[in-house]
Amino acid sequence: MCGIAGCISKKRRVAPILLDSVRKLEYRGYDSVGIATVEENRYNNNKEYNIGLKKAKGQISKVVDKEWEKFDGNVGITHVRWATHGIPSNENSHPHTDCHNKVAIVHNGIINNFKELKNKLIDEGHEFKSETDSEVITHIIESYMEKGMNLESALVETVGHLDGTYAIGAISTNNPDEIVAVGRKSPLVIGIGDGENYLASDVPAFLKHTKKIMYPAYDEIVILTADNVVVKDLNGNVIEKEIIETNWNEDMAEKAGYDHFMLKEIHEQAITVENTLSVKEEIENIVKDLKSIKRICFVACGTSYHAALTGKYLFENYAHIPTDVILASEFGYSFNSLDEETLTIFISQSGETRDTIDAIEMAKEKSKTLAIVNVLGSQATRIADYVIYTQAGPEIGVAATKTYIGQLICIYLLAAFFSKHHLKDEVFANTLLRKINLIPKLIEKILENEDEIKDLSLKYKYPPNFFYLGRGLAYPTALEGALKLKEITYIHAEGYAAGELKHGPLALIDYCVPVVVLLPKGDSYKETMNNLSEVQSRGGDIIAFTSDVEDLSDQKAQDVFEIPNDLGEEFEELFAPLTYIIPLQLLSYYISIYRGLDPDHPKNLAKCVTVG
Ligand code: F6R
Repeated sequence: MCGIAGCISKKRRVAPILLDSVRKLEYRGYDSVGIATVEENRYNNNKEYNIGLKKAKGQISKVVDKEWEKFDGNVGITHVRWATHGIPSNENSHPHTDCHNKVAIVHNGIINNFKELKNKLIDEGHEFKSETDSEVITHIIESYMEKGMNLESALVETVGHLDGTYAIGAISTNNPDEIVAVGRKSPLVIGIGDGENYLASDVPAFLKHTKKIMYPAYDEIVILTADNVVVKDLNGNVIEKEIIETNWNEDMAEKAGYDHFMLKEIHEQAITVENTLSVKEEIENIVKDLKSIKRICFVACGTSYHAALTGKYLFENYAHIPTDVILASEFGYSFNSLDEETLTIFISQSGETRDTIDAIEMAKEKSKTLAIVNVLGSQATRIADYVIYTQAGPEIGVAATKTYIGQLICIYLLAAFFSKHHLKDEVFANTLLRKINLIPKLIEKILENEDEIKDLSLKYKYPPNFFYLGRGLAYPTALEGALKLKEITYIHAEGYAAGELKHGPLALIDYCVPVVVLLPKGDSYKETMNNLSEVQSRGGDIIAFTSDVEDLSDQKAQDVFEIPNDLGEEFEELFAPLTYIIPLQLLSYYISIYRGLDPDHPKNLAKCVTVG
């Protein structure tokens, strides 16, 4: 995955800016960090330049000290790594330099044909310092510059050799007043400042300095100088690009007094719901435009997939539209039945997930496409026919929390409007639209009982295995609860449809396996209670989440957490995905804390998965 950033300034040294940027991108990988600048040798009358380079294996907070800030140079690039080719090590860290230290590059993506390229370059006499695929980029640029080309032309030629995905930032001592960048299927965003310009994998990297952003398309070459940003196609034609202004601000990308981004983001869910409800009208207009739709197909990964599964229950039950849900990584194997009466809905907080982007490109050929995304201007938003933005603000914690609730709100609104315009069921739509306004208060109320979840977390920090059970609309929530536990506590957890337990996994239940049971009042309640009894008679500890605490007081569960029933019993189950997930996120967060882990940086994971 990795994160890249770059800055060129006519006002100041860029090392402090770069290090601040790379800290904002740390969620993209924490195997190593590096920085390179073009330094001027002021003691030489002929203006001599060198590449200043520092890189190290390890997390930024552990390896970057004050010395890094002292780097000279007004032009530079930086990188955080999530290792793919080559183990995490000093040598495999970026930036990579050429044989003569005249060129430095940072790269996010994968070069599929790097072995052939590397062998050829070695035959031509290039010496490699790392095992990475990325290093070939530096050497190809070098070989073209040795033939007399400038950095820009050399990068254009280099792109012609690369098969794979890339966002590349390059600097050179031969062209000390520019950074040249290019992207293909890996995120690259340009920030337009005042006497200073920026590039990055994601907007928070330079949000402190500018809100004006621009997204180059695949294989457009971006030439950044301190005063200007020029974009060209591979034939050298200048392309006019639209500059957009993000409504995110710098504070949104800070911890604001919380110990971790994840905890801050859990607490931002009420406001995320409120803000996302404000795009109601846009959503209704999209639905009105999609009158001919007869089938819906959701496509997503991970947490976004769980939001999509929730959509299936809502769309089928309340809009009577047949709905499938496909994992983005599996989409390419089962998409032939899409047609123009199908709406394919892609859900992705980042809008950059490789598998999801590939799926949108495939689906676009056959069906109408809609993307539900959090990041303004990200790739998914540029490919899909329709876009809805979740209004969550930047999410930095690797485990998705507030963007999940934002996705769910968009799905609830879509379901309401499809029900209204397709099924002509105004009563359901209006009730949903009225009741959903109560959700922010309900979330706040649940968060007031955070201490109860802390106690539960302390009690359950040791078991190596958990089950999470739910039925109907509570089933995707059980899956999401289990995923949250897995990713930040490293405890094995399985989310299961409560009724499926007896078809196999019940064999695993004994007194060592706590079982989290979601029990919203509604159609599924009684049946889930029966499943709870099955667990109880096998000795498993039950942690129940319900509004009916009294019903569970008869020693049916070891622990009960109350979900306030402010919506009325009739609606509790319908809205359960928006409320029951909150304590499950907190449970994972605090178990992670009590196990001495860092929930913002789970091992082996990165926030934005730009590899397939
Ligand atoms: C889990 C998590 C991941 C993402 C998945 C898709 O907490 O964050 O499972 O949901 O990688 O990412 P997006 O939504 O950016 O496509």
